[in-house]
Amino acid sequence: MTRNNPGRKGFSTRAIHSGYDPYEGPGALNPPIYLSSTYTFPTVEDGSARFAGEQEGFVYSRTGNPTTALLEQRIADLEGGEAALVTASGMGATASLLWTLLAPGDELITDKTLYGCTFGFFNHGLAKFGVRITHIDLTDPAKLEAAINPETKAVFFESPANPNMRLVDIAAVARIARKHGAKVIVDNTYCTPYLQRPLELGADYVVHSATKYLGGHGDLIAGAIVGPKEPLSQVRIYGIKDMTGAVLSSQDAFLVLRGLKTLSIRMERHSENAHGIAEFLSSQDKVAVCHYPGLSTFPQRELAERQMKLPGGMVAFELKGGIEAGRRFMNALQLIRRAVSLGDAESLAQHPASMTHSFYTPEERRLHLIEEGLVRISAGLEDLEDLLLDISQAMEKT
Ligand SMILES: Cc1ncc(COP(=O)(O)O)c(C=O)c1O
Repeated sequence: MTRNNPGRKGFSTRAIHSGYDPYEGPGALNPPIYLSSTYTFPTVEDGSARFAGEQEGFVYSRTGNPTTALLEQRIADLEGGEAALVTASGMGATASLLWTLLAPGDELITDKTLYGCTFGFFNHGLAKFGVRITHIDLTDPAKLEAAINPETKAVFFESPANPNMRLVDIAAVARIARKHGAKVIVDNTYCTPYLQRPLELGADYVVHSATKYLGGHGDLIAGAIVGPKEPLSQVRIYGIKDMTGAVLSSQDAFLVLRGLKTLSIRMERHSENAHGIAEFLSSQDKVAVCHYPGLSTFPQRELAERQMKLPGGMVAFELKGGIEAGRRFMNALQLIRRAVSLGDAESLAQHPASMTHSFYTPEERRLHLIEEGLVRISAGLEDLEDLLLDISQAMEKT
């Protein structure tokens, strides 16, 4: 077996062991959950040194806790980043990072398609406080070259984009942004570091909704930011401590650590099931188009192969009958659950025009490339045959 860096353990090994040595404590195979909001100082001078950042150690769990610190170390290792910060939600990660990086008068360039609440935070939150939000088609890096200017401080995108699966060439966007001094932030929720590592492709920061594949079991809400150490310490002591307070509890951090142990095998199975579902959907008369990076018909197939290890667990497709057909299909599903979120063991289906993107006006959905009949499936870990039987019977009723 060959490995790029022979001195470094493999991804799955690090997802299980990185940062924790049971022999350093009482030998517990699993790390303890530290349930403590505050920390004691041996002397007032020690307390003062910790506040000044001159002494290692914890002060108060809004700025750090040993269980969340272990999760931060492990996620940073898996993403190939210098440091990480975990947060109370994916939205908490994006908000804490951007409140720290941006100021009134700055511009944030972002793609046309975004997860609905990220779109809301940018256009209703950041914009209200004087940050200019510019949506462009980042699938064409030349459009970024044309739009970027001295006020552009950050470029933010998802790849694949939620919900329509458009890909952005991370390396190409990072090259242009770097030339102009703008920071590149990639929401890597759909891929996880097992499938795609944006920092290795030149991005400055990665954000995650760890609620999804990293946790993997639909039983928590969490987020993460990965990037360079010093700027992230600013996000910790300013973005999280003073601005959002979006702190992850140590019990949820433990659950994410448990989820990470099986991340690689889960991502393989999610991908396998999604691929099977996408092939099946593409053969259906009632389906106008199926968006899945593993299909030979996917327009950005070459890019997918270049920057993703596998095409992933998410599939989107458009029914010829539009919004009504989308609703009928959704209501006919029996095994696949009607639910937002993604990355769980259970397969989930949602209809963005009725759910995650329902607070857009129809005109906004059109502008941001979210078709009315689009249905999104998060392929779970069930047997593919059972999933196909369910989709097939729902399609008959559509
Ligand atoms: C791509 C993406 N980013 C961010 C988020 C927000 O994450 P959270 O729900 O953990 O706040 C979501 C949630 O669905 C998402 O799909």
